[in-house]
Amino acid sequence: MKSWLVPCILIAWLFPASVDHCLDPPPVNFSILIATSTEERSLVTYNCIKGYHLEGKKELFCNKTSLVWDSPTPVCLLGHCPNPMLVNGQLNSSKLEPVSEEEVVTFKCDVGYILKGSNWSQCQKDHTWSPPLPMCITGQCESPKRPKHGHFKARDFNSGSNITFRCDVGYQLIGAQSLQCMDGEWSDEIPICEEILESMVETEKEPERNICETVQKLMQCQKERRNTLEELKYSLEIKKLQLEKKKAVMGTEIKEGSF
Ligand SMILES: *[C@@H]1O[C@H](CO)[C@@H](O)[C@H](O)[C@H]1NC(C)=O
Ligand SMILES: *[C@@H]1O[C@H](CO)[C@@H](O)[C@H](O)[C@H]1NC(C)=O
Ligand SMILES: *[C@@H]1O[C@H](CO)[C@@H](O)[C@H](O)[C@H]1NC(C)=O
Ligand SMILES: *[C@@H]1O[C@H](CO)[C@@H](O)[C@H](O)[C@H]1NC(C)=O
Repeated sequence: MKSWLVPCILIAWLFPASVDHCLDPPPVNFSILIATSTEERSLVTYNCIKGYHLEGKKELFCNKTSLVWDSPTPVCLLGHCPNPMLVNGQLNSSKLEPVSEEEVVTFKCDVGYILKGSNWSQCQKDHTWSPPLPMCITGQCESPKRPKHGHFKARDFNSGSNITFRCDVGYQLIGAQSLQCMDGEWSDEIPICEEILESMVETEKEPERNICETVQKLMQCQKERRNTLEELKYSLEIKKLQLEKKKAVMGTEIKEGSF
């Protein structure tokens, strides 16, 4: 016991308390650093000065277990906001790089592309573009997956085109039968084909179909009211008793197990 205790005390004494401190936050050119520290962890926030914008994470954390900063050091780059970009389009700005505060740019897409978002944006004080930078999209919709047990008909997936769904025999369509492609997005969810339940079809042929229909209606009614299963069981028992009584009065026999 003693031989184990002594080395431990020795090790604790060799490492001074200052070991559990995070490393100094790395410096970032053209930034103002704000650091806050608690017992558990340290937080630094980098704010680029006017005329520069941040690339990377604005906030870095360090805690007592890891003792290192959780992300790579960001940088402050020239330009008050990031350079605006528009793939498959052109932008017009009053000045050229570097971007300065309050600068406004306007956007236009190449022929065959649709602008998604605002057709202008302004560089804000907080180094971001507002409204957000737009995109140029083709306007074509993605080909939907063929529904299981069904199919669809479409001429193409261009903006404005329609697509119609059908289900195989024995299946019914749940959802919209026809969708329209609108600027790259379908007007509704892709429908599904659901099996038409056999029991429903068979019920029609059964001799005691009146009872079954009544029970089904009751179950449907209960479902809509979102009653618990227990309550449903209970009310079914009562309904059964009522039916039995009714049949008995009419002088007919009740067959057991018809439910
Ligand atoms: C920051 O600026 C100093 C002085 O201009 C330069 O020597 C250093 O390389 C810069 N650091 C970075 C990460 O760009
Ligand atoms: C400390 O930081 C490390 C690495 O970032 C992380 O895995 C760990 O969960 C953190 N611990 C606490 C107590 O926050
Ligand atoms: C931007 O859109 C608005 C309305 O949608 C339009 O009036 C304006 O002319 C457009 N500006 C440019 C530069 O295209
Ligand atoms: C697509 O459907 C919509 C709404 O049902 C209709 O207004 C439109 O004319 C149809 N377009 C084509 C190309 O059939």
